[in-house]
Amino acid sequence: MAPGMLGRPVTISGLGTYLPASEIANAELPASLDTSDEWITQRTGIRSRRVAPVGVSASDLGVPAARAALSGAGLEPEKIDLVICATISPDNLMPATAARIAHEVGALNAGSCDLSAGCTGFVYALAMASGLVASGLREHVLVVGAEVISRILDWSDRGTAVLFGDGSGAVVVSPADGAGRILGFDLGSDGSGADLLSIPAGGSRMPATHETVTARQHYLHMNGREVYRFATRVISESAHRVLDRCGRAVDEIDLFVPHQANLRIIEAASARLGVAPDRVCTNLQRYGNTSCASIPLCLTEAEESGRLKTGDLVLLMGFGAGLTWGACLMEWSGSRR
Ligand code: ACO
Repeated sequence: MAPGMLGRPVTISGLGTYLPASEIANAELPASLDTSDEWITQRTGIRSRRVAPVGVSASDLGVPAARAALSGAGLEPEKIDLVICATISPDNLMPATAARIAHEVGALNAGSCDLSAGCTGFVYALAMASGLVASGLREHVLVVGAEVISRILDWSDRGTAVLFGDGSGAVVVSPADGAGRILGFDLGSDGSGADLLSIPAGGSRMPATHETVTARQHYLHMNGREVYRFATRVISESAHRVLDRCGRAVDEIDLFVPHQANLRIIEAASARLGVAPDRVCTNLQRYGNTSCASIPLCLTEAEESGRLKTGDLVLLMGFGAGLTWGACLMEWSGSRR
């Protein structure tokens, strides 16, 4: 079997999402940010984002998405063997946000862990879940991408504060029992770019002190220009690798679901890859960059709107902090919601 291919066929058997109700349009952002609707729309494509109320954490957003995915899969929570939460804004550094989600949804027989791979976390978690189910080590794995990024943003930094939003998306990975299955993955990382996108303080590398808080180093920091350059390059390279491994071609792709960081990145990468705009899924206009939630949010919306048919070839593409990237190719199985 070629590397990146799976054993027992596996599929997404259920999907779910959850978004906080409060919506903030570009024009409603704090005046102190010294930005404009025009700048944000032209440079990023983002028009508004959702923001969770004070006191709401990543697990609070992840739970309703997880419940919806379980219901779509037609599974009782006791049937879940493992819960993986991909997030860059966990409830705590420890314990895992996934443990709270598993507890709240009633996944009493499940192990649980968080996965940290920047905005690529959802694709990485999907790969781990797929491998475990394909090997027979687990039967049903719940993957949740849950983010309250508004809590880790420096609201005085216009270079990051305008870009992100809160939300969650979840899928259940199960053995495939009909048409459609996950075909393979490409995962990669380059730690030489670790400092291009990070939360500098609060870990063992730079423990939190009064000084780090004063210097606002407990917030997300990003070199936007370098991340932009990295993303536009890596997307088409990773896409070609997973297509080659699975013996498929770019012109067979029915739907391309890239991580929703910036419309210009998506347009440039899609053009470089050769995927027509009508095959590219976007929702960042309404939600901003929801990190680990952006791909399951897009995928669920595509299903709900009838954009996906059984057997369609779907390419998921994540990229982000680490630096990391990850591509997943699948034949859509007409999963239930
Ligand atoms: N409003 C107004 N002006 C701004 C803003 C803002 N919100 N942000 C930056 N500017 C200014 C800058 O200060 C700069 O001014 P100057 O020329 O006087 O110095 C000017 O706009 C241009 O700044 P650039 O950084 O060159 O702008 P660019 O066109 O590169 O866009 C952006 C910046 C949107 C951040 C872009 O670089 C980007 O999208 N990068 C990728 C970010 C990303 O995707 N990150 C997430 C990855 S996923 C994850 O794991 C979290």
